[in-house]
Amino acid sequence: MDRLVFCLTSATVPSWAARAVERLDLVLIDHAHCEMKAASSALALAGRAVWAPSIVRPLVALAQEELAHFEQVLAELERRGLELGAPPVDDYAAALLRNVKGPKGGRERMVDRLLAGALIEARSCERFKLLAEALQARGEHDSAAFFVGFMASEARHYGVLRQLALDVGEDEAKTLARFAELAEVEGAINESLGAGPAIHG
Ligand SMILES: [Fe+2]
Ligand SMILES: [Fe+2]
Repeated sequence: MDRLVFCLTSATVPSWAARAVERLDLVLIDHAHCEMKAASSALALAGRAVWAPSIVRPLVALAQEELAHFEQVLAELERRGLELGAPPVDDYAAALLRNVKGPKGGRERMVDRLLAGALIEARSCERFKLLAEALQARGEHDSAAFFVGFMASEARHYGVLRQLALDVGEDEAKTLARFAELAEVEGAINESLGAGPAIHG
């Protein structure tokens, strides 16, 4: 199976999946928070897209889907007797979002936020795939199937956010060039963080 999905410029270290399956409790708690953050970030972007009304509905639909994912992971936590607790530190997303450029409320910033969101979805997709494979190898078929479902959704969300960035960007070539730049940044962040038992490690 391909190690890299979509636009990603670096692969997750192989030790990540082994560590993640050992601490699936921590991964699931982090996963729940990631889904909640994905929902609130899609809603926040919808609220800032006053000059791009065509992207409001797709962002609200995305937020609704991410909220449904949150409820699904929350149900899994409850089934396992785990508590949601406070959000774990997310150095990965914080580092990536520090690279978003442009004045608040402007087109450049919206394009960057959408592209950063697409990269986060792509990374989540890659990691859900690794997790599903590791769980499958241990004979934990139900848990593997749980993550396969999320993997497929994140792949679709990657496409949605990338397309919305192209829709609001001034120039397709410029947006794609910026995407390539941010993908390099994301790849470096992925390599510098690494292997902790969290969705983005
Ligand atoms: Fe999701
Ligand atoms: Fe997503």
